[in-house]
Amino acid sequence: MAIDVILGLQWGDEGKGKIVDYLASSYDIVARFQGGPNAGHTLKFDGKKFVLHTVPSGIFRPGLLNLVGNGVVIDPITLAAEIRELEKAGVNYNGRLLLARKAHLILPTHRYLDAASENAKGKAKIGSTLKGIGPTYMDKTGRNGLRVGDISRSNFKERYQTLKEKHLSLLEIYPPTAFALEEEEQKWMESLEVLRQLKQVDGEYFINHALRDGKRILAEGAQGSMLDIDFGTYPFVTSSNTITAGVCIGLGVSPDKIGEVIGISKAYCTRVGSGPFPTELDNATGERLRAEGGEFGATTGRPRRCGWIDLPQLRYTIMLNGVTQLAITKIDVLNAFEQIEAATAYRIDGQSTQELPYDICDQPIEPVYQAYPGWQRSLDGIIAYEELPAPAQDYLRALEKALEVPITMISTGPERNKLIVKAKRPVGV
Ligand code: GDP
Ligand code: IMO
Ligand code: MG
Repeated sequence: MAIDVILGLQWGDEGKGKIVDYLASSYDIVARFQGGPNAGHTLKFDGKKFVLHTVPSGIFRPGLLNLVGNGVVIDPITLAAEIRELEKAGVNYNGRLLLARKAHLILPTHRYLDAASENAKGKAKIGSTLKGIGPTYMDKTGRNGLRVGDISRSNFKERYQTLKEKHLSLLEIYPPTAFALEEEEQKWMESLEVLRQLKQVDGEYFINHALRDGKRILAEGAQGSMLDIDFGTYPFVTSSNTITAGVCIGLGVSPDKIGEVIGISKAYCTRVGSGPFPTELDNATGERLRAEGGEFGATTGRPRRCGWIDLPQLRYTIMLNGVTQLAITKIDVLNAFEQIEAATAYRIDGQSTQELPYDICDQPIEPVYQAYPGWQRSLDGIIAYEELPAPAQDYLRALEKALEVPITMISTGPERNKLIVKAKRPVGV
């Protein structure tokens, strides 16, 4: 068996949670492979709404196993809070929520360092979610980190103290930043008890044995490819590899085990936090997209920056990920628009190009747009592709043609069942 992958092709918040929750019923295991509580994945079904940060989006599908892989960074405080929400909703997560022993832990002082580092950057700040992601991955690659499996070691307290002391001395290089360390530390220690009760596994053996036994596995990405530490809009990125290659590292599987790669894109584009965004609309149209799309962060509540879909950007992330099918979400957000636009190329220094330049941060990029007529009607109740209004079908066909990957899913609303599933056919059909 192979592992199928779902990941975001833009700057995050493409609707990964919704699509994973929908597809989960066809799988035995859903596994998160990177990121941490900077993620906010929204699920809506039966009139209820849940936002998941660390727990994989398969948790609401009874019987399915959910693995938090070694590539994920875990904050026990956020995870314990999520578990309380699951308990309130009557979800039986016992034995169904598994933690990889090699996943790293976010300490309170990692969050403290995140806040102090962002503060010190002033105008150059990344717009981090301040969940301690950067400092935790720094300790991982710096070989100082603490991992889930360390919790049960006899020297855990000692190692915690050593790392904390190191963080406190690092904090001295920054201007003072408010942080209730003692309070946060107490919550952290209490939350460790919740973690201790969860099942821990050697994730790499767990996944490979499951594959050998013919289990169907879906890897759930967090963030988006344009936030990838290597290929995103550096330094305005997150600290993990968000692309398909991250699945191998973050779960412990070899590249030949990757099956379908489902890339998700909104029918337009958003970004939250600082950094370049070539098609951003800092005008009334951008405001309209934000209002129609309810574009406010699921983790921080910050307004998301909005703009038209960016085809050179998507071609780039499709290339990086080896995308085999596309899911286009939030197409209903465009319902009221008289005209829709898509950037088909960039103009840089007077030259037209399809490729993202090395210096995307400081070099002026002028997108070249193509306009498409809107459909100006609701898509409610539409369950088949053929029922979509002709201008919507034309827009989707144009995207497919430009991106050279078949669109197999079209999401028409936040609820689980508002999804049109199309058989995988040759592009443009
Ligand atoms: P994720 O991080 O990729 O899982 O996405 P988020 O949950 O952060 O943001 C996506 C937002 O759009 C959430 O509020 C979803 O409920 C909502 N959403 C997902 N799909 C659709 C859709 O097709 N139409 C509309 N209108 N909203 C959607
Ligand atoms: P999901 O999984 C959108 C952005 C932050 C910031 C940058 C670095 O819900 O799509 P970090 O906290 O990682 O240090 O922040 O990355 N960011 C996201 N933007 N969706 C996310 O996750 C994000 N996770 C991080 O806004 O610009
Ligand atoms: Mg999100």
